[in-house]
Amino acid sequence: MSWTVIATWPFGETSVRAAQVLLAAGLPALDACIAGAQAVEDDPTVNSVGYGGLGDVTGRVTLDACVMDGKTLRCGAVAGVENVRHVAALARRVMEATKHVLLLGEGARDFAVSQGFPLDNLTTAKSVEQWEKTRPKPGDPPQRMPDPAADHDTVTVLARDSSGHLGGACSTSGLAHKLPGRVGDSPIIGQGLYVDDDAGAAGATGVGEESMRICGSHYIVEQLRRGISALDACVAAVARVNDAARRRGEPVGRIAFLALDRFGNPAAACTKTTGFRYAVARPTGVEILQAEEF
Ligand code: GLY
Repeated sequence: MSWTVIATWPFGETSVRAAQVLLAAGLPALDACIAGAQAVEDDPTVNSVGYGGLGDVTGRVTLDACVMDGKTLRCGAVAGVENVRHVAALARRVMEATKHVLLLGEGARDFAVSQGFPLDNLTTAKSVEQWEKTRPKPGDPPQRMPDPAADHDTVTVLARDSSGHLGGACSTSGLAHKLPGRVGDSPIIGQGLYVDDDAGAAGATGVGEESMRICGSHYIVEQLRRGISALDACVAAVARVNDAARRRGEPVGRIAFLALDRFGNPAAACTKTTGFRYAVARPTGVEILQAEEF
């Protein structure tokens, strides 16, 4: 049986290249997805994930992540964690070493320490400089919802392994200059990620609130369960996001969904102006694909 892995944004190429090594060696999809997320968490040039992520409105860098195993529906998540770089791996530890699904803030950091995760300064000279340059200044009009900078957002990695099982991981520092305490879609199972071997896998990237209003990833997986194609399921989720924006009378934010059906066929769709691209790796090679906007 063949394997496939997909990941958000052009920086997802780093993820799929890390993940494909494990998949080609016959390792489980979840291991591959976490390795893929971790490769981007370690990259200081990606300013929306892990090390080098941009801070909240006070400058604190807080990370969110979740993981899900499609075979067992086991999942784990952490939100608002400071000083821990590998939050996708930490989310897996929540899944494996506790009876819980989601740990928050200081509790998640204490748990990380108890599990031997090192504490780290997550800022770089460049991320501090960029935060200073872009942060709201006194007198600026109140910010409604900052958009993530073009092509910089959550890394979401979905894979089907050579045994036919699905896995997923996502990791982010969330929206730059978010309010302290704000939690987006990425650490919430069903919003930023959902994976079920019997149906498929889906994930989101962009302004998390847009996915949260429609339970985006779970919605897509439920469409896949009904036999709808991965592309049509992603397009249907974008249509729901657009409808939600129309109903509240606001412009729609930038959001993209990507999916893998249970046979490993990938697809993605996004709202207008998102300009979403994603990376795909299969035994035949690595590609960067452009999602259609709706
Ligand atoms: N999608 C990442 C966030 O909104 O926090």
